[in-house]
Amino acid sequence: MTTPAISIRDVTMDYPTPDGVNHVLDGVSYDVAEGHFVSIVGPSGVGKTTLLRLLTGLATPTGGEIQVRGQRLTSSPEGLAVVLQDYTRSLMPWLTVEKNIALPLRNAKLSRTATRERVEESLAEVGLTGTGRSYPWQLSGGMQQRVSIARAIAVRPSILVMDEPFASVDAQTRFDLEDLVLKVRDDFGITTLMVTHDIDEAVYLSDEIVVLYGKPAVVRDIVKIDIPFPRSQMTTRNDHRFADLRTHVYGMVRGLE
Ligand SMILES: Nc1ncnc2c1ncn2[C@@H]1O[C@H](COP(=O)(O)OP(=O)(O)OP(=O)(O)O)[C@@H](O)[C@H]1O
Ligand SMILES: [Mg+2]
Repeated sequence: MTTPAISIRDVTMDYPTPDGVNHVLDGVSYDVAEGHFVSIVGPSGVGKTTLLRLLTGLATPTGGEIQVRGQRLTSSPEGLAVVLQDYTRSLMPWLTVEKNIALPLRNAKLSRTATRERVEESLAEVGLTGTGRSYPWQLSGGMQQRVSIARAIAVRPSILVMDEPFASVDAQTRFDLEDLVLKVRDDFGITTLMVTHDIDEAVYLSDEIVVLYGKPAVVRDIVKIDIPFPRSQMTTRNDHRFADLRTHVYGMVRGLE
């Protein structure tokens, strides 16, 4: 059997509270295969962001363990990049777009020329060639989130983790960004884990959807999205299989199934 990119094993997470503990995750287990796109869905407050924080090594599980390519996670894993919902807080307003993208490359020990090339390639990948000299606040919200994605892929990550990355943009931009992350996944073969509130988006993008439910949360179901790639906003969303899967996942998130 091949080693999964990420293995979440019987993970439990408790937060201390003034009058005891907040038992958030209870025995969550899931393996993410190399190159897969996996979405995590569940009701608000169920523990989705908590699970992502554990994956980034920013927090340590109370019980169980997380492995990245067979290695127990003890700090931020190598080759992992993160995109968060709020680009206004994750991009540095006093740095130009190209300097923002170059920031995580400082550890990569690239030459100046190689850094510049990497920044240009990353901007081209997200369709923002020519904007490097602008400041983030001179760009639209959708463009700023593209810059966040460019910055994430500039380090050529093998794992991309995103927490509601498209929640702050309009519907049309959201569709464009969804197709962008699918392209990025294809171009670089990145294993991608995304939290979203949008069940249609989860079905559209994913190989599998992990449904968290309950307090404390357990894995309620793992739904395989057996809709072929490449997917298209025009046809995939009208597919009867898409409607069936969306209804099924929606029912579980709302506690109706
Ligand atoms: N750093 C923290 N310290 C203490 N409690 C926390 C912390 N982060 C989250 N919690 C608690 O853990 C629970 C799950 O929160 P989390 O943010 O993981 O939920 P979520 O599924 O991401 O919710 P949403 O969909 O609203 O973003 C909540 O009860 C929250 O209060
Ligand atoms: Mg959250």
